[in-house]
Amino acid sequence: MARLIRRSQLRGQILKSLMEEEWLQGEECLTDIEYLECVHDILKNETVQSMNSFIQHGCTTTLTHCLHVSYFSYKVCRKCGLDYCSAARAGLLHDLYLYDWHTHARETGEHLHGFTHPSTALKNASRIFELNATERDIIIKHMWPLTIIPPKTWEGYVVMLADKHCGFMETVLRFRTRKVAATI
Ligand SMILES: [Fe+2]
Ligand SMILES: [Fe+2]
Repeated sequence: MARLIRRSQLRGQILKSLMEEEWLQGEECLTDIEYLECVHDILKNETVQSMNSFIQHGCTTTLTHCLHVSYFSYKVCRKCGLDYCSAARAGLLHDLYLYDWHTHARETGEHLHGFTHPSTALKNASRIFELNATERDIIIKHMWPLTIIPPKTWEGYVVMLADKHCGFMETVLRFRTRKVAATI
């Protein structure tokens, strides 16, 4: 019973923190020393940096998108007493699939990017970094419910929701930017 109450309290706390968390538009995370302590080795890796040559949503590169998801998840998990370092690290690696998804299907004939990219990202990330079980599960399940099996951890739920929230904001921001440009 106590476990059930704790679960529902934690679920409420995570949702509240997700709603309260401000959408990150600048690069505030790059001056947050405690965040950088969790992810500095990932951020300086060349393969990770190469995500900057691919567009994710609107005019946001895949690296910027991963940074948004990572920092957002870090802050929510920290507030909720969860494993914020694993959330930050997996958030940064969750889309390490290393191609442009806009042209991928045309170039390769592979039309299931939404379903397959979590395992590609996990394979690429595991080749470079030693990942713990939480990080591996976060990366492979981040597209849930599109991919059928849900995350095993609360950190996984936070990253999964942060990914959707950041993707939505990045897309909306593109239209807002266009509208502003059109009125100048
Ligand atoms: Fe993804
Ligand atoms: Fe993503």
